Amino acid sequence: MDDFFRGRRLRRTSGLRRLVRETRLSPEQLVLPLFVEEGEGVRRPVPSMPGVERTSVDGLLDDAREVVELGLGGVILFGIPRAKDEVGSGAWATDGVVQRGVRALKESFPQLVVITDVCLCEYTSHGHCGLLEADASAPSATAGSTADPRVRNDATLELLARTAASHARAGADVVAPSDMMDGRIGAIREGLNREGFHHVPILSYAAKYASAFYGPFRDAADSTPMAGDRRGYQMDPANSDEALREVWADLDEGADMVMVKPALACLDIIHRVHREAGVPVAAYHVSGEYAAIMAAAERGWLDQEAAMTEALLAIRRAGADIIVTYWARQFARTR
Ligand code: PBG
Repeated sequence: MDDFFRGRRLRRTSGLRRLVRETRLSPEQLVLPLFVEEGEGVRRPVPSMPGVERTSVDGLLDDAREVVELGLGGVILFGIPRAKDEVGSGAWATDGVVQRGVRALKESFPQLVVITDVCLCEYTSHGHCGLLEADASAPSATAGSTADPRVRNDATLELLARTAASHARAGADVVAPSDMMDGRIGAIREGLNREGFHHVPILSYAAKYASAFYGPFRDAADSTPMAGDRRGYQMDPANSDEALREVWADLDEGADMVMVKPALACLDIIHRVHREAGVPVAAYHVSGEYAAIMAAAERGWLDQEAAMTEALLAIRRAGADIIVTYWARQFARTR
């Protein structure tokens, strides 16, 4: 009779397993990304992300109603403008698609936490997250490097600050810069303060890697670079200490929360940042990580709900306080 191992005694019934569970997941820890575009009555499925749709502002409100009912932690908004240009001017337009979306959301659901992604890549004709050097299309001194064309750092900061301030003016609760330019948190903090938005926190995408797992997002947001890639500003997946340096720099400049991205491919980074940073840590369960599970589940190769729940649990267990995930609604619906 007495042949249970000590570990197995506590795994015997679902009630016991629930009682001793170390990591809990709940809807208020999850943030749902939403894509908003121009027009009316638009609801356009994203082919590479089953269950994800781009909507116009009216559809955004329908989605937000469910987010509030389900008790999710909040939403993060991405805009897809009708027109793009060299400098990404749609990013800070008062009547830009994100600005209109935020105003509508806060008017209908004042209690909903609305986070905005601050970046230029959805708004630039070339698809990079910052301004390009004038001669960027000419053959460069670093020929052979796929990271070209070169993105200008300091000239971009001013535009990011302008973008963040326009989001705050529209009513955003949190701004989340995802561009990975150096010095952007300081520039954005200063820009916000200058306009009296001392109370608007910054969630910095501090450790953002140049990842293959962003592919489906770039389909959804039409933001794939026309030439080159993002390795000149996003982090090398081989590095770990560098993530901590990015986090310290952003905290020095005034970040209130930090994000690690992607999530499943960076569980070790989430863990280190959680142990060392001392601020709330978010992790972005990105488009490719979501799509991989959804695609396998569609083929019957994985159990969607079990695999997704396990993935989110692993991200929490690594130390994320907040998870940005396209699966937030499905998770909350089954609670
Ligand atoms: C914008 C941005 C990206 C993502 C979030 N913000 C794309 C990128 O950096 O290429 C990716 C999110 C996802 O893959 O789900 N810079």
